[in-house]
Amino acid sequence: MTNAVITGWGKCTPPSVLTNHDLATFLDTSDEWIQARTGIQERRISNVAVSDMAEVAARHALACAGVDAADVDLVILATACPDTMVPSAAARLQKLLGAHQAAVLDMNAACTGFVYGLSAARSAVVAGDHQTVLLVGAEKMTWYLDWTHRDTAVLFGDGAGAVVIQPGEDAEAGIFSGALGCDYEGQDALKIPDYGTSDDRYSGPKGKFTFQFDGREIFKRAVVGMGNAAVRALEKAGIAADEIDLVVPHQANIRIIEALVNRLKLPMSKVMINIQKYGNTSAATIPIALCEAVEEGRVRPGSNILTAAFGAGLTWGSMVLRWTRRVRPVATSQAALPPCDRSGLELLSEAIGHSRRLATPG
Ligand code: UT7
Repeated sequence: MTNAVITGWGKCTPPSVLTNHDLATFLDTSDEWIQARTGIQERRISNVAVSDMAEVAARHALACAGVDAADVDLVILATACPDTMVPSAAARLQKLLGAHQAAVLDMNAACTGFVYGLSAARSAVVAGDHQTVLLVGAEKMTWYLDWTHRDTAVLFGDGAGAVVIQPGEDAEAGIFSGALGCDYEGQDALKIPDYGTSDDRYSGPKGKFTFQFDGREIFKRAVVGMGNAAVRALEKAGIAADEIDLVVPHQANIRIIEALVNRLKLPMSKVMINIQKYGNTSAATIPIALCEAVEEGRVRPGSNILTAAFGAGLTWGSMVLRWTRRVRPVATSQAALPPCDRSGLELLSEAIGHSRRLATPG
């Protein structure tokens, strides 16, 4: 049987930073509270659309794999923040890259999107239907936020990460089949109800989304859901938890990550954590963290890696993979977002003012 391996990796983290201290200038919150409850210190704010961030991450991943965009035959863009609903953000990404031979689709499994995409990309390659899959997780969650709500405004950030998945030559390495699902009982705990065809087009405060969010409920379900998913994925892969060299989890809350590794009886030293720098970038957290783990030398030839995520739906998923021999890029790319000299706070000033006006009665 053909196996599917990751041959390229890349990321795009927008340059504009929004710190916890910046948030405390307009919200009733503090750096102490945010760090203690979430592990986040700062996050990035994008002034471009999701497909622009996706393009930069993808160009790095393609160079890393030594693959020409023209040879990509499937683009999966995991996102809950498409530039437009029609066409898909993946279609725009295809055009930006010149990936003219590719089939394209957006995949919305919220924060679990990259894990779902990894499963779909693996299946496509193992079945022999596709030879070169570009899988990107890219999100601009800050676009949805109501900047008067401290419970959600402090959690999210923008960014993108990408991988190239191809048939592997090394029989030992590859992405194993994982465990995916959705906990619909908790569906109302995380919802943006007014974006889509269930929305009343003719009334309501336009220019503002309701971010329905029950943090405690999601937290409880995430701990159980991610833990169960990881246990199932390990069983299916036939790999014991203590054989895992590196856990690359969804970065929503450091306490959720700690609960996951406690359940697996693994030390925190085996976990890739970068939530302090980027916050929760939804489907982008795992590919960004994976890319940084390889850059930092934490992924070695043959490393066993576990991913696990949880998100709106409430989707859950976990995949196990064994890295190939190559941990260095074939080539590098100079791709970057256009320069932006404004801070995160400056970029958001209009959005913050708008949220405040809509929250003011009368
Ligand atoms: O990626 C998947 C989607 N998201 C998640 O997985 C997030 C899951 N949930 C969480 O990470 C946590 O539930 C939160 C970080 C959102 C909240 O942490 P918590 O420890 O569950 O806090 P809480 O909601 O129980 O609130 C505790 C207190 C409340 O005050 P009272 O009622 O005790 O007086 C909140 O009003 O903290 C208050 N609070 C804040 N205080 C300062 C809530 N947000 C803030 C804030 N700054 N930003």
